[in-house]
Amino acid sequence: MKKITIAIDGFSSSGKSTMAKDLAKEIGYIYIDSGAMYRAVTLYSIEHGIFDGEQMNAEELKKQMNNIHISFQVNAQTQRPDTYLNGVNVEGRIRSMEVSAKVSPIATLDFVREAMVAQQQEMGKAKGIVMDGRDIGTTVFPDAELKIFVTASPETRAQRRFDELTAKGQQVSYEEILANVKERDHIDQSRDVSPLRKADDAIELDNSHMSIAEQKEWLMQAFRRATNTSL
Ligand code: DC
Repeated sequence: MKKITIAIDGFSSSGKSTMAKDLAKEIGYIYIDSGAMYRAVTLYSIEHGIFDGEQMNAEELKKQMNNIHISFQVNAQTQRPDTYLNGVNVEGRIRSMEVSAKVSPIATLDFVREAMVAQQQEMGKAKGIVMDGRDIGTTVFPDAELKIFVTASPETRAQRRFDELTAKGQQVSYEEILANVKERDHIDQSRDVSPLRKADDAIELDNSHMSIAEQKEWLMQAFRRATNTSL
């Protein structure tokens, strides 16, 4: 069967990564979390003195961009791809609150976006890929055969993120997470370079009141329609 490209964009913590991972597994496609790449650049920046408190030294990061190598390797235990930064598994560390709080300004830098988009397009050349992010259907793969734009209310998304982090044993406050979710929405939508917006030909999925099973069925139907199959 001819493989297609699937672009899943949406707000932070809208559950798009979980759905993209599950869909990729179900249909035997490669899954790439593009947000993890911006998070890895942010972790690198934190660890290499690019940040002085909240202040970011963009010039310095630009000089060091060639030292940042991001890759993915399937974790044998979880069967999902883990993110590697310069050969080191950083999957856990890129999900911390510190990285979440600092990633948006990093993702607004044009030279960072150019480098990431080039890598993402390279990864998608062979098709058979599900990639999730903010600009996948608009900038990275404008010709993707299936584009999905995921939304859910900020409160629903903050609650999901809170549950996820507390399940991992992290001490976090719901209010702090909600503020972070809203701030990221604002930055993601209002930035000059590749702002988050629904591609004209994307189909919208509001999953505020959907179970994981309902969402899965919705996605499979969208996939069947896009590929004209009865899979
Ligand atoms: O999906 P996420 O929360 O892991 O994304 C982390 C950050 O990266 C988020 O602030 C938006 C940014 N991002 C982006 O600008 N473009 C993408 N394609 C993916 C993520």
